[in-house]
Amino acid sequence: MRDNIAAGNWKMNTTIAEGTALAAGLRKTHPKSCDKVILCVPYTHLSAVATELDGQGMISLAAQNLSSEESGAYTGEISARMLADTGAEYVLVGHSERRTLFNEDSSILSKKIDQALSHGLKVIYCLGEPLDIREANQHNAHVKAQLQDDLFHLSADQMQQVIVAYEPIWAIGTGKTATPDQAQEIHAYIRSIIQDKYDPNTASQTSILYGGSVKPANAKELFAKPDVDGGLVGGASLKVDSFSAICESFGS
Ligand code: 13P
Repeated sequence: MRDNIAAGNWKMNTTIAEGTALAAGLRKTHPKSCDKVILCVPYTHLSAVATELDGQGMISLAAQNLSSEESGAYTGEISARMLADTGAEYVLVGHSERRTLFNEDSSILSKKIDQALSHGLKVIYCLGEPLDIREANQHNAHVKAQLQDDLFHLSADQMQQVIVAYEPIWAIGTGKTATPDQAQEIHAYIRSIIQDKYDPNTASQTSILYGGSVKPANAKELFAKPDVDGGLVGGASLKVDSFSAICESFGS
């Protein structure tokens, strides 16, 4: 069956020393109830955190972004090949902050996904609707279009390398969480769309994470839902205590 995953997205926070200390603290916690912990750290921290984690245990490393291009004259960009060389195993693609603040559209996102996979990086693919779309009850159509435009050029084999993270934009950093029932409903819908495009096996093997104001106080209820396979956590992933509590929020 698919993995239960707790992923922390540090966004543009922490120095290298602070990030390494956070990783070291998490490494000592040995969460028992989840299958995988992933830390999505700033580019500058990747090598240091990889050394801290030492390739051992259940914590994996992710980058938060990558270039859509292979190599060459792209000043300031970081390629998939460079990321794989740091020890990163995953990369986030499609986060709403990149879509809205950096104008990343499906033509860029699909190239980023291809770059990642062709260099052996697994993808944490993020999608989700803004508040006006939710209020107009168009959220299912919105996420379906995102999947079709960004992701569905992949083969079923390539989909095995993808984790999906549903993050409603209205719940990110706002303290407003989707209710467990709202999360379950749209996660089940996303899984059904993956099944329609691919097959039942691919759909049931794909981990679908929820993101948006996940906290120790709400993680258990969210993760108890059958189609919620864990969380992509922003603010609450920046402290050992709160993130390790979230990592222990699976099961009974
Ligand atoms: P918060 O948990 O801070 O709402 O952030 C969610 C998020 O964007 C994770 O990628």
